[in-house]
Amino acid sequence: MEAVLLYEGKAKRVFETDKPDEVIISFKDDATAFNGVKKDSFADKGKVNLAFTKHFFNLLQQAGIKTHIISFIDKTSLRAKKVQIVPLEVVVRNYAAGSLCKRLGFEKGMELKPVLCEFYLKDDSLNDPILCREHIKYLNIATEQEVAYIEQQALSINKVISSFMDSKGITLVDYKLEFGRTSDEEIILADEISPDTCRFWLKGTMESLDKDVYREDKGDLVSSYKRLAEILGLEIN
Ligand code: TMP
Ligand code: ASP
Repeated sequence: MEAVLLYEGKAKRVFETDKPDEVIISFKDDATAFNGVKKDSFADKGKVNLAFTKHFFNLLQQAGIKTHIISFIDKTSLRAKKVQIVPLEVVVRNYAAGSLCKRLGFEKGMELKPVLCEFYLKDDSLNDPILCREHIKYLNIATEQEVAYIEQQALSINKVISSFMDSKGITLVDYKLEFGRTSDEEIILADEISPDTCRFWLKGTMESLDKDVYREDKGDLVSSYKRLAEILGLEIN
């Protein structure tokens, strides 16, 4: 019997399982940028991003961060707790890049101390606008305590992943996280962590090994992701 598709996003599909509180998430080879304006498909991208997600989520679970992942099924799919995604894109920035430089004129690579945590509304039809905390309250997305918890989790995640990447000679410039609410109202880390959702620069040169390669037409996306995987010692086959 074919699994029922619950949701299809730009880079993943979510399927029903025989358990009401579990889903299967399958990683696609599709890549998009600028809210879907640019769209392509790259062989192996799904399995490469799943390998990064597996590695980072394992590191986070070992550090005590609660996540949606239950188990890894095969090269492109995983089993996860079914959650209601909190419609926030939580962006953490260690160095200025991307939209922050465009919006505020910051110099690319400027260190951000203290680390900057921003919230964007997860709504493609509105082009994911940036939100302040009052907007989050008016939109009834999350309580003040939940927002504080999400920010604290996002910053703990930063420590875990930044220090791992530092040890491999890579700078974690910024990244986007999504959180979900379980049926018993617990907020846990969801979605993925991969070069699609983070900016990674080679230390010293600021060379991008992430989706900026595709956004800015700087080379072959999957080759850059595989190069990063090799630097980190991840198995991809
Ligand atoms: P930005 O500089 O374009 O706002 O992106 C900040 C970080 O968030 C960067 O690591 C890329 C990631 N990101 C996503 O994962 N999805 C998105 O839709 C956007 C706009 C950014
Ligand atoms: N994720 C967004 C898109 O799919 C934007 C981006 O990552 O640049 O278009």
